[in-house]
Amino acid sequence: MHVITLDSETDFEGWRRAARTLALNGIAPREVAWTVRGNAPELFEAEPDTSLEETQGSFNVPGKFIELAEIAILHRNPERFALLYRLLWRLRGNHDLLEVAADPDVAEISAMAKAVRRDEHKMHAFVRFREVGRESKSHFVAWFEPKHHIVELAAPFFASRFADMPWSILTPDASAHWDGHAISITEGVSRSEAPAEDRLEETWRSYYASIFNPARLKVKAMQSEMPKKYWGNLPEASLIGSLIANAERDTRTMIESKAKEPHKAQKREDTPMPGKPDTSTDSLAALRAKAASCRDCPLWKDATQTVFGEGPARAGLMLVGEQPGDKEDLAGKPFVGPAGAMLDRALAEAGIDREKVYITNAVKHFKFLPRGRIRLHQKPSTPEIMACRQWYEQELATVRPRLVVAMGATAVQCVFGKVMPVSRNRGRGVTLDDGTVALVTVHPSYLLRLPDEAAKTREYARFVDDLRLAAKLLKSSAQAA
Ligand code: URA
Repeated sequence: MHVITLDSETDFEGWRRAARTLALNGIAPREVAWTVRGNAPELFEAEPDTSLEETQGSFNVPGKFIELAEIAILHRNPERFALLYRLLWRLRGNHDLLEVAADPDVAEISAMAKAVRRDEHKMHAFVRFREVGRESKSHFVAWFEPKHHIVELAAPFFASRFADMPWSILTPDASAHWDGHAISITEGVSRSEAPAEDRLEETWRSYYASIFNPARLKVKAMQSEMPKKYWGNLPEASLIGSLIANAERDTRTMIESKAKEPHKAQKREDTPMPGKPDTSTDSLAALRAKAASCRDCPLWKDATQTVFGEGPARAGLMLVGEQPGDKEDLAGKPFVGPAGAMLDRALAEAGIDREKVYITNAVKHFKFLPRGRIRLHQKPSTPEIMACRQWYEQELATVRPRLVVAMGATAVQCVFGKVMPVSRNRGRGVTLDDGTVALVTVHPSYLLRLPDEAAKTREYARFVDDLRLAAKLLKSSAQAA
């Protein structure tokens, strides 16, 4: 019997090397036992198998097998290494074996790979970070218990989704960490090492309650998509019971109030119908007053004031920027500094009257680093953008523009609810889930920062072109309404 000891549960390279040597030495699967270092009983914790020669030679297996094996090896079933070797052994004689879906080995390995992918998907959906420390020392930590060995597989998703916040995902098997540059993997920990509550959770809960649609509730489907075993990690889980219990009543209320609502075309009028009071001005004033005392992220502490959106309460066009700058923070109005001057010029060239536009920012407080008398602009982080998004959502629901223009990456993250590259998405209208059309462009500050004049002229012209497209989209949507 040949005992092969792999370095870890996810040691695919070790398995691959050993499997190749075993196969080239003609060692049949029944003569091999597979273990993982640290898992084998002491007597069995074998010395490395030196009886096998690193044999020269080669054989081919389909690329599809390697892809399948890399995923299936992350399954928790201890038999997976042996099963994979048996398949490899059989594939040498039957290159098309993987096409035989009814073959028991093929069926089992495919089911394992599928289960691993499902677990990865659950991890992407149900990890919730909790904030540890504050501001520049903030670190976001999540606890998760995956079914399979998927931490390394799932980590790159979080690195791109939460690129600008340092985070750690702790699990019993392994922990993944992101410092803004690279992912590192360390040993697993016990649940007691994960933080319990944080101040962002209330924001999460209100957001969840606001997007919960009682009319769409299917309890069984919900529980299979969001199994109870994950509820311990989810701040919104504490709401689920009462949301389900009240769903029937809330649906009835929704239907009754929907029946009284105007049709879409009426809803999108820029001016209220004669004789019908328009409450949006009052609602905006109320929102502005509420936002003035927002404490949902730490940015309020150093900023002078909340800089809320400004413009007609029924505007066809909404422009979204990043956050107020130094001048805006002092004036309490968006886009009144150098970026605002650049924006004004471009709007005028594109034939858009600023007075008719509602202008706001993704984040409503100025984030900066004090450097003597100067306050250096700092990019808002994902948690700050998410904590502030509630205000944009309420502005959107009140103003009901026909078109939203997101200027720069932060605005895009706010408007679309996820990180998306500006360059690949600019220049075309995208219809969002709620029917609003959104257009992506660069932020005017980007134009101010460009070092050479030629680039500045070229990029400014592209920005004006984007605004012209906005004017065109707005015109055609007004005609269609
Ligand atoms: N930059 C922004 O994104 N918004 C402002 O209000 C000013 C500068």
